[in-house]
Amino acid sequence: MSRVFNFSAGPSTLPESVLEICAKEMLDCHGTGQSVMEMSHRSAAYKPIIEGCEAKIRDLMHIPDNYRVLFLQGGASLQFAMIPLNLNKTGRAAYVDTGVWSKKAIEEARRFLTTVDVVASSRDRGCCYIPEIRKIEGDYDYVHITLNNTIYGTKWSYLPDTGDIPLVCDCSSNILSEPIDVTKFGVLYAGAQKNLAPAGVTLVIIRDDLIREDLPASVPTMLRYDTHAKNGSMFNTPPCYSIYVMGLVLDWVKSCGGAEGMKKRNEEKAACLYDFLDSSDYYHATVEKGSRSLMNVPFLTKETDPEKAAVINKKFVSEAAKAGLVNLAGHRLVGGMRASIYNAMSLEGVQALVAFMKKFAAENPID
Ligand SMILES: Cc1ncc(COP(=O)(O)O)c(C=O)c1O
Repeated sequence: MSRVFNFSAGPSTLPESVLEICAKEMLDCHGTGQSVMEMSHRSAAYKPIIEGCEAKIRDLMHIPDNYRVLFLQGGASLQFAMIPLNLNKTGRAAYVDTGVWSKKAIEEARRFLTTVDVVASSRDRGCCYIPEIRKIEGDYDYVHITLNNTIYGTKWSYLPDTGDIPLVCDCSSNILSEPIDVTKFGVLYAGAQKNLAPAGVTLVIIRDDLIREDLPASVPTMLRYDTHAKNGSMFNTPPCYSIYVMGLVLDWVKSCGGAEGMKKRNEEKAACLYDFLDSSDYYHATVEKGSRSLMNVPFLTKETDPEKAAVINKKFVSEAAKAGLVNLAGHRLVGGMRASIYNAMSLEGVQALVAFMKKFAAENPID
């Protein structure tokens, strides 16, 4: 067996020990004689899997009793619509625009709300930083932020004070990468395919008072949080297998010291890469210090001619892949390179990347 180091932004690398359990239990999960893929979601065999998964996420994230945990579908992208559809009271919301995913969330909200104010943005410098907006006030139904910006590689290092206005957060690319104080948020949501599970399930953590039954009749049943909350995420068939794998990933997180353990592991990996980038005369990190993500690290070479840079980037990505370091191309909208070093990526993987980067720089001088 030969496994690569996979730096994909999502779906992404999973802990090998989890994949081994999946393989072992593929044909017969816990003596049931069935694969989880084949189980009825309402069976006695599946019940402890979904309930266990919820209990584990509650434990690891210290989720208080007045929050519900929902396992939904449609990706984080469907939350861009569900949030305004369910939280809308006055038709007004505030968003902070820190990149591609924030913008998509803003555009979607504009379909449903009369006023979507972009109260801060990092577009003036190509989204390479998190804007300073310590306090957000106004007559808003909610404030929305993207806690970690997967494409640009930025992360909020503080949370804005929104007073009584619910803070809603897309944490798709940094959930469980470090402790998050759930009580600071009205809603947290995350597509699972980076730090939690294979694609197919979206985790939503929502405060009870934001689950409303008095929504307009035009809001489709499947897009109402109360539908899923009342039915324990079983209004319809949930993404059973992804939830099962999430439970295994959460066991692994727990065995590594929980969210605190992940933070330590992730800081060590990120420091290895950023320290190298900051000391290099060949590469540089694109994100300002103080806004850097622990999870997604975009970088460029110091080649200033765009045509030559494109050639070098392409060669870098293809030679890295030959060396067993895959999925290092930057997002198609921003180019360059990006290493996504989610929870499951090992320090060994990051060290192998840095060693490759040194070798590539020596072999491909920039004149
Ligand atoms: C921060 C963030 N939000 C939203 C999305 C969209 O997620 P999905 O593909 O699950 O809809 C992504 C996908 O990479 C993301 O990184």
